[in-house]
Amino acid sequence: MKRLGVLTGGGDAPGLNAVIRAVVKTAIHEYKCEVIGIRDGYDGFIDDRGIIPLGIEDVRGILPRGGTILGTANRGNPYARKAIRDGEEVTIDVSDEIVKCIKRLKMDALLVLGGDGTLHIAHELFQKGVPIIGVPKTIDNDIGGTEATFGFDTAVTTATEAIDKLHTTAEAHHRVMVLELMGRDAGFIALHAGISGGADVILIPEIPFKYEAVVAKVRERVDRGTLFSIIAVSEGAKPVGEEQVFSRTGDEIYVPRLGGIGQIVGEYIEQQGFETRVTVLGHLQRGGTPTPFDRWLATRYGAAAVRLAAQGKFDRMVSLHAGKIVDVSLEEAVAVSKRVDVNEDTVITARGMGISFGDE
Ligand code: F6P
Repeated sequence: MKRLGVLTGGGDAPGLNAVIRAVVKTAIHEYKCEVIGIRDGYDGFIDDRGIIPLGIEDVRGILPRGGTILGTANRGNPYARKAIRDGEEVTIDVSDEIVKCIKRLKMDALLVLGGDGTLHIAHELFQKGVPIIGVPKTIDNDIGGTEATFGFDTAVTTATEAIDKLHTTAEAHHRVMVLELMGRDAGFIALHAGISGGADVILIPEIPFKYEAVVAKVRERVDRGTLFSIIAVSEGAKPVGEEQVFSRTGDEIYVPRLGGIGQIVGEYIEQQGFETRVTVLGHLQRGGTPTPFDRWLATRYGAAAVRLAAQGKFDRMVSLHAGKIVDVSLEEAVAVSKRVDVNEDTVITARGMGISFGDE
């Protein structure tokens, strides 16, 4: 193994830099192997300044830094790239160009740090002959084949801190506080932060809710003399029989963006006579320094990905299973996204403690 490439694709997540650092340090120390970084996801392959060498000096001090020193793009799908042809905006497939570039660069492996979209593309590139290894990244924790993605723990920590802060002001003003959290179609962030922060109602995509049930919980608390309530709402949550709420529709380049359900829930509660405020935590969940858990996981993932490359085990993804780092088929990992298991102990625990999911 002489040369490894590494890229970060899709939305950023705390811990990306920790993976890059582990990749560079392991490749150089353990294998005397050169590492090159590709800027802005797959886009870097078709940009003149998109390929940069990565040495030990380049990764010094980046362990606690959020974001990614390589940059990323969440509309960088090489199979559907925006371009101007004859003055018109068109969508083109540049995947063959990328494969040629990877061959020209003589990479023995390309390590792709991404969520399901980026890893899906990685698997397709493998089918075109690229020696790919995936590293599961996302704050949403929704990638199949692994118990954890790096970035999730940091997002849950930030969301829990937000709930803690909302608690004090909610109690002072006798208000209902609604907090909309990220997660796309998976409710892990809202569920984990909701439990860790002591929310009274948690709304997640996996459990469609009824507005009346949410208000019933607020009313029950008021009747008991507790004049405030905290409601954690996942951006993908939806009322029974209704669709999810989007702040922007998608097209072949952009994925649709979820957002707005928190406001709708808040307005409904207010209409029932309870003073309510809504907070959308948004991209704060993606920023900042990774937690020690995410640094630890990211470091282990990065080093394990290099070891996989050395063994020539391609089209695989590093994964956490029962505390150990293992590898799984990339194809299987991206085939089915992970969702909250509503029959598992986390949800059962919450229900048993009186937390409402708005469904009963
Ligand atoms: O997948 C990570 C995520 O932060 C989701 O939780 C959220 O729906 C989406 O990305 C937001 O994407 P963007 O950065 O395009 O606003």
